[in-house]
Amino acid sequence: MQVFETKDRLSIYIKQCKERGEVVGFVPTMGALHEGHISLVKQAKESCNVVVVSIFVNPTQFNDPKDLERYPRTLENDIKLLESVGCDAVLTPSVEEIYPEPDTRQFDFGYIGEIMEGPKRPGHFNGVAQVVSRLFDIVNPDRAFFGMKDFQQIAIIRSMVSQLDYNIDIVSCPIVRESDGLAMSSRNRLLSAEHRATAPNIHRILSEAVKIHNTMSVAELKNWIIESINSNPLLEVEYVEIVDEKSLKITEEWSEEGSKVICITVYAGEIRLIDNIII
Ligand code: PAF
Repeated sequence: MQVFETKDRLSIYIKQCKERGEVVGFVPTMGALHEGHISLVKQAKESCNVVVVSIFVNPTQFNDPKDLERYPRTLENDIKLLESVGCDAVLTPSVEEIYPEPDTRQFDFGYIGEIMEGPKRPGHFNGVAQVVSRLFDIVNPDRAFFGMKDFQQIAIIRSMVSQLDYNIDIVSCPIVRESDGLAMSSRNRLLSAEHRATAPNIHRILSEAVKIHNTMSVAELKNWIIESINSNPLLEVEYVEIVDEKSLKITEEWSEEGSKVICITVYAGEIRLIDNIII
């Protein structure tokens, strides 16, 4: 496995791969890697000849400076882990390498940027689009792999890909969970022991909600989820929405066509956890 700190060296490597006719798969990450990331690498390996992972904690997508500061950084372990699963190349750039000067681009995602995470984390999706487009320019992948845990992020990336006219296949991959049901996330390692013990209630209650959804209205189910999660003093729901899987349109009635996804954000102390489940 080759580790690149600069975009120019990686670009030369990718150019050589493409000259050999190899399909390049890309997994962008912010490091602190876990089995969820590794599953993306494994899926990329199944359909691509070369798999590139980037590890870059992107400052432009953090709307809370405290969140950026405490974001876990475990580069040495990340590199060992990637090597053990047969990743081909890793990009570990500095902030200056990615942003030689500030990125002032403002994306307009319309409706999909105005719901759920959009208003709760102002500027977040703009920062995600900035960094992912810069990484796409450097890596020039044929396919890029993203986890379904960040369900709304995938819709944002697809919109950015279409706005900037990239010819890149965006592959969404299933959520990977701990054995107790907690969705894997780099932020899980920031949870206190007590918060970690109670966090699996989020998935447990969402799974229960899927089972009982037909017994009540959409509004009643949302209230039931909020009350069930908040009945635990260590958890507090920030929002819960039920949206159409494709358009992300907010569901008002079960009779509306198409699969639905329950999306949720919960604070476990100071740590913000997101999760979702398809109905
Ligand atoms: O999902 C993430 O980890 C990040 O938002 C991403 C896509 C790597 C961009 O920094």
